[in-house]
Parts: sequence; structure tokens; C-alpha cells
Amino acid sequence: MNIANDIKEKLHEIDWDFTGSSATKGIHSIHPYPAKFIPEIPRTILDALPVPEGTAVLDPFCGSGTTLVEAQSKGYPTVGVDLNPIACLISKVKTNTLPSDFVNIAEECIGRAKKNNNEINKEIPNVNHWFKVDIQHAISVLVSEIDKVEHETTRNGLRLALSSIIVRVSNQESDTRYAAIEKNVTKENVFSYFLVACQKLSQYLGENLFENKLSTQIINKSILEVTPSDIKKPIGMVITSPPYPNAYEYWLYHKYRMWWLGYDPNEVKTSEIGARAHYFKKNHQTIDDFKLQIDNVMELLTKVVVSSGYICFVVGRSIIHGQHYDNSKIIEDLALKHNLSVVAIIDRNIAKHRKSFNLSHAKIKKETLLILQKM
Ligand SMILES: C[S@@+](CC[C@H](N)C(=O)[O-])C[C@H]1O[C@@H](n2cnc3c(N)ncnc32)[C@H](O)[C@@H]1O
Repeated sequence: MNIANDIKEKLHEIDWDFTGSSATKGIHSIHPYPAKFIPEIPRTILDALPVPEGTAVLDPFCGSGTTLVEAQSKGYPTVGVDLNPIACLISKVKTNTLPSDFVNIAEECIGRAKKNNNEINKEIPNVNHWFKVDIQHAISVLVSEIDKVEHETTRNGLRLALSSIIVRVSNQESDTRYAAIEKNVTKENVFSYFLVACQKLSQYLGENLFENKLSTQIINKSILEVTPSDIKKPIGMVITSPPYPNAYEYWLYHKYRMWWLGYDPNEVKTSEIGARAHYFKKNHQTIDDFKLQIDNVMELLTKVVVSSGYICFVVGRSIIHGQHYDNSKIIEDLALKHNLSVVAIIDRNIAKHRKSFNLSHAKIKKETLLILQKM
């Protein structure tokens, strides 16, 4: 049997459902993110397919960095791109180590924040509906004190810890339910939850935990604006799950985290591929807009991926105005247009507990793993 057939057979023998696995264990539990990979998906792809010598692993929609962490733990340098600044913050923190005095620095920030009587310095729409005034003050002074920390990796870790507790200290019912409810949260809780989040980060990312200190490049831009020269390493493997029409809304999920950390969620919404907002307003986007967006992504990938490198997509189906679309077929057709060879197309069952704002989308139970190769 030749090597290509051997690889195909191996891919089809794997049980890609990974029943019972979780996307929120260990290091992947440090911050919530919608539609995360379960780590077994990138891990198993990296075990099954060869990564050409001297190349890096790219995730052009890196989200919370699952592919990057898995690739890094196997010794590969990585490149991640995401439009969402919270995604990039999570990915940066997860792929770096924190200093051994990280928790002490967090305690110092809390000490300074408690003495800081400055007024709330952020203009956030509808803020009083979602946050009690004393909670707003605690978050505001913590952000100010964190942003004074000079060491970038430490500052990112502190910002991420704060981001991870924002929904908990708000009036928002849960990460996936936008209803304001009465919660028994005090200003003191903001500081204590923040400290616990920092301790957890330090436990997973403290110094000496990584054997391989490998380089990671995280690009916070729309993939449609990324040029080949932005990607600083030759790419031998792409593992990604792209956003697709009318499924998740990453900007909405992180809306208040972005406001508090000084980003504008409306800018993110405008460029977010697939966001439901673009499919329901007047003059809404159609599946053809998605085809064009993925066509542009393929164009970029074929330029940065080395010969014989693999490009792996995990993608679900879409329902737009009641009509079903098979996004994996769209990607397959575009792959052929870009002269990529189709190595395998495998359906997998999605775990039942995956939650989404979009209830009709939550009924979709399958997604497809599409493995392509540049010849
Ligand atoms: C399915 S999620 C990726 C999740 C990731 N695999 C993980 O494990 O966390 C898709 C990602 O695409 C990002 N995205 C949407 N539009 C984008 C664009 N125009 N450019 C780059 N990233 C975009 C979203 O912010 C989201 O993080």
C-alpha cells in the first residue's frame, strides 16, 4: 500500500466522536469560548499526519488557541489568527509561561485597586443594566491597575483573568443567556474571584511547566486582511474550524469583556464571518458571501502552505432562513478550484452539551472533518 492510501485508511479507522471528551478541561478551562475544539481533534490530526520538517502549524481562526496549544505541546512552532481580541488574548496567554511571582503581582494590583477612588473611566452602552455601580467601579480600577503592569505576558495574564470573571460578576444570567437577573455579587467578590482566576492561571501556566518554549505568532486581524508576508513562518499544517453562516456570534459572547478591556465589539461584529447579525438584517448576506470569504482564505492558505502540507477544516452545516447548507461541500468545491487534493471527508457527531445562543443551530448534531493537501 502506498503512503497516501495508508494515511487515508488510518484517518478512517479513527473514532472522531471522542465521546465523553471535554473542551473545558485543564489549560482549556482558564477562559470560556464558544465552539471550542475538543483538544483530541487537533491532537489526533497531528498524530496521524506528518508535519513537514522546519514548518509551523497555523490556525487561521484560532479562537481560544486549542490547535496552538496542542501543536506546541508536540514541539511545533505555531501561528494563530483571529479577529476577536479576546480570542487572541486567550491564545497568547495559553502559549506563554507566566512568571513565578504572577499571583503576588495580582495581589499587588488588587491592593492598589482597592485604594483607587478614581471615577469609572469607560463609556459602555447600557452598562447599568448589566453591572451594579459598585461592581463597575471595582472592574474599572482593576483594569487601570493591571494596565500599569509593564511586563507584557504578565499584563496579558492579568487581563485574561479579569475577562474570565466578567460574566460572573455581571447581572447576565450565564455565558449563553442574555437575561439580566438579580445576583448576590459584591465589590469584594470582584477582587476575590479575580485572585482565584489568577491562581488558576498560574497553576496551568507557571514557569517551567513547558518543556518546549516555542515561538508563537498571534495575529489579531480579520483573516481577509492578512497577507502572506504577515505570516512569518512556512506553514506545513493548517488545523482550523472556521466560523460559518448563522451559527455562533463570537463578538456578542464577549461583548462586555471587550468593552471593559478597551476594545470595540461593534468593530469586531462588522468583520466577523458568519455572524447571525449579518444574516438577519435587511440586505442580509447570503451563502454566496460565505463562499467568497472562504475562497479568499483558500487563496491565502495555498500561498503560505508548503508543498505536501495539509489543510484540515472541521465545519458544521448552516440553516439560513430555513434552508440548510452543507458548508463542507462548499469548502471541498473551493479546495478543488485551488488545486488542493481531497485526502478524506469524515462526519463526526457533535457533543450534546455544546450550547449556542442560536437554538435552531443547536439542533445541528453533525460536523465534517475535511482533510486537504497541497500537491
Ligand atoms: C469555531 S471558532 C474557532 C474556535 C477554536 N477552534 C477553538 O478551539 O477555540 C471560529 C473563530 O473564527 C473567528 N473569526 C470570525 N470571523 C473572522 C475573521 N474575519 N477573521 C479571523 N477570525 C474570524 C471567531 O472570532 C472565532 O474565534
